[in-house]
Amino acid sequence: MSAHQSVQIFDTTLRDGEQSPGASMNLTEKIEVAHALSQLGVDVIEAGFPIASPGDFESVREIARAVREPIICGLARCNDSDVDRAWEALAEAARPRIHVFLATSAIHREFKLRMDEDEVVRRAVAGVRRAREKCEDIEFSPEDAARTEIDFLCRVVEAVIDVGATTVNIPDTVGYATPQQMFDVIHALRNRVPNIDKAILSVHCHDDLGLAVANSLAAVQAGAGQVECTINGIGERAGNCSLEEVVMALKTRADLYKCQSRIATQRLVPTSRLVANITGIQVPRNKAIVGRNAFAHEAGIHQDGMLKDRNTYEIMRPEDVGLERTDLVLGKHSGRAALADRAAVLGYQLTGEQLQTVFEQFKLLADRKKEIYDGDIAALCEQQFAVLPELFVFEGYSVSCESGNAPTVTLRVKQDGKSQAVSITSGDGPIDGIFLAIEKITGITTVCRDFRVQAVTVGKDAQAEVSVELEATSERYRGQLHRGRGVSTDSLEASAKAFLAAVNRVAIGGKPRLHPQQL
Ligand code: KIV
Ligand code: ZN
Repeated sequence: MSAHQSVQIFDTTLRDGEQSPGASMNLTEKIEVAHALSQLGVDVIEAGFPIASPGDFESVREIARAVREPIICGLARCNDSDVDRAWEALAEAARPRIHVFLATSAIHREFKLRMDEDEVVRRAVAGVRRAREKCEDIEFSPEDAARTEIDFLCRVVEAVIDVGATTVNIPDTVGYATPQQMFDVIHALRNRVPNIDKAILSVHCHDDLGLAVANSLAAVQAGAGQVECTINGIGERAGNCSLEEVVMALKTRADLYKCQSRIATQRLVPTSRLVANITGIQVPRNKAIVGRNAFAHEAGIHQDGMLKDRNTYEIMRPEDVGLERTDLVLGKHSGRAALADRAAVLGYQLTGEQLQTVFEQFKLLADRKKEIYDGDIAALCEQQFAVLPELFVFEGYSVSCESGNAPTVTLRVKQDGKSQAVSITSGDGPIDGIFLAIEKITGITTVCRDFRVQAVTVGKDAQAEVSVELEATSERYRGQLHRGRGVSTDSLEASAKAFLAAVNRVAIGGKPRLHPQQL
């Protein structure tokens, strides 16, 4: 590979990433993420799987209309209705791409598709041909490629390039591959497929063995020109290759990989926070690149070394990934311009109206809290991209409780502009009591699958951030899994808001979308 080779970054946060259980985003949120990805400098945004649901179709179409810089891609299986629907959603994109896929491994051929090799090649070719009639930019993925016999994989890849595939993506769908194996597969394709130079080779790794980034890097070393990844590595099961990790590995070890991406790395942390806040899937503290502790040096010997020369223990500079050395920013006397500036640095493009609302909330918060940190500002901005419309709006609560007795909770919510209240004496404690009161007033019953509280910033007056994951049990919504998030200086209020946000998603969310393999 030459010194100036570039690697394209294909982001699938909005498609594969959104398949993380409970990570579904509404249209406003998806458009916000797509704008953030565009600012980050990704080459391709996979915006969704248009045939999967009307909501997926609409979000691909709206992103195609609104985000003009990167290529906008829509997923389709190898059949006419999928491809036509994908094209309908993408037609107004400045730079559209149709991504067709079909499984190729023996196990998928035999048990899922019930097709022999010839039939798989015939269908793959037909899918690419159909897509190519509509669009110049076509990606083909042989699903489960990493477990496909190499001779057959070469045959499929040659056939789809022959009929016009411009990118061929090699997925490790089940996260089974190892770096050496991934290197060998890409190397074999480059050496054995006669028309390989007519397409870009891509890699798409899942993280079931924790090897997605290592496998993607090995593929790049073998000559892959595109890496598929997601912000914070979110995705099916253990997730996908993490964008921030693969990008910073390529940059930090440019001596080894000798290639670069177009990513504006200073936007990595803001984009990671945006996606974490919108999906409710928080980043572990020790996560490489974007975790809260990724640049924190605790050991005295390290701190001493760092003071003498940062290079002793620091391989990347925090500011290169968008982490400010201090995040103490605003206070009671800060003005609207300073707030707008800080919000923009954190990745939030607020309209005039949104800025006004955030500013008013900022002033109220500054009355309760002396120092306002980046995390506080992100939490305020985030509420502007909450589920719309909210069917049930939190108004307030009161609780009286003592150890050993059920709490008495009164909860007020607004529905269709009318305030209503409910009082109950039930539950194991004040939070359980509040949750039961919400179930009673909304008529939606749930099982709580996850409940987390963390401080948004530091200090006793820090805001509490609560995230919950609920599975609906009411007849009408049974099995739907949704997340909600609430932030307040009062942790009971934050819990009520988070629970109500998830219940709102259940109420307006419709049926869960299906995974490509379930359709
Ligand atoms: O993991 C996978 O195989 C996929 C394909 C649809 C590319 O996500
Ligand atoms: Zn995948």
